[in-house]
Amino acid sequence: MYRLTGKRILLGVTGGIAAYKSATLIRLLRQHGADVRVVMTRNACEFITPLTLQALSAQPVHTDLLDLETESAMGHIELARWADLVLVAPASANFVARHVNGFAEDLLSTLCLATSAPVMLAPAMNQQMWLNSATQENFEKIKARGITILGPASGDQACGENGPGRMLEPEDIVPFVADSFVTNVLSGSRLLVTAGPTREAIDPVRYISNRSSGRMGYAVAMAAIEAGAEVSLVSGPVNITAPDRANLVNVTTAMEMYDAVMQKIRDTDIFISAAAVADYSVESIAAQKIKKSDDSFQLMLKKNPDILAEVAALHSPPFTVGFAAETENLAVNAQSKLRSKKLDMIAANQVGEALGFDSETNALTVFWGAEQKQLERASKNTLAKTLIKLIADQYNEKNSNKTH
Ligand code: C5P
Repeated sequence: MYRLTGKRILLGVTGGIAAYKSATLIRLLRQHGADVRVVMTRNACEFITPLTLQALSAQPVHTDLLDLETESAMGHIELARWADLVLVAPASANFVARHVNGFAEDLLSTLCLATSAPVMLAPAMNQQMWLNSATQENFEKIKARGITILGPASGDQACGENGPGRMLEPEDIVPFVADSFVTNVLSGSRLLVTAGPTREAIDPVRYISNRSSGRMGYAVAMAAIEAGAEVSLVSGPVNITAPDRANLVNVTTAMEMYDAVMQKIRDTDIFISAAAVADYSVESIAAQKIKKSDDSFQLMLKKNPDILAEVAALHSPPFTVGFAAETENLAVNAQSKLRSKKLDMIAANQVGEALGFDSETNALTVFWGAEQKQLERASKNTLAKTLIKLIADQYNEKNSNKTH
């Protein structure tokens, strides 16, 4: 079983006889846990029907760039941001030639330009077309741009010829896809991630909480596992599934989160505080359900410990990363938290209507020292992967400075 749980794969299908293999590819990717959405070029629809791929992916198949109905549901830019990986299989000679030149005249070529996710292509074409120097030069150019080329294989071709140009078999593509999510930038390090909201009880049936879904923290935990780290995840109440290789500790209140973090912090190299911890809890929780009586009602709150600030203030703290969800003055507020809480790094995101907490995508500005980096809007998995790389770079740099 390859680990593709929750990975969002945008499968592009272009026109070629190998398009029939896309059907098996979708089934395999889904069997390994991936969430697959399909985009077909017009020519691909001549080889295999959108209905077939729709049934196999269990999602609407996208074919048109300017389709009012799909644009209002999931438009082309949303689709590009949704993807953790764009896989074009089969990729025809024509598609690659257009992509090399940056054409965006149909949905798939537009998505390939608009996405910040990695792109992989599995070429499929007649052997003479593959060997043609125009095609070879095109593939060299896109390889140099960081696109991964899978195959092609050599052998009998549908046209009756024999040679290179066959699309790799779906079962040979899936391991490459799974491998693409694995890095080793954090191998051997121990990470502690907090995620989700906390709940502060008012009485036995009511509580104070916030809109955090936990998705960003869970994506960070997953990306850290894929980067080779040993990950503990201290999570508030959420409705999502934790990565199966994380050591999960479930908590409800900020105080429970504080205790769980402090218990593990001595064995932690990197602490990432993605939880939306309640700043206050109720001073005295009512033993029985509070009855409504007067027109107004007052709750006395007391301040919770700032877990992140306390971790950063430890005698020998781990590399400490905070999040700052802001509705205004993002950069100023985030930089001031970086300094006041004495953090190594802070990832700031704008929250508000349809942004941040509940949303599938996010954008972050990351600050450390006097530096900053903008991570453009993308799926939370893609962002988490970039963030983990950034954290690993700074963590390694700090460690190498310490040892020199
Ligand atoms: O100060 P503010 O709450 O905006 O800071 C946000 C950062 O601090 C987040 O990383 C959050 O996880 C952390 N935090 C914490 N304990 C609190 C409040 C916030 O660890 N009580």
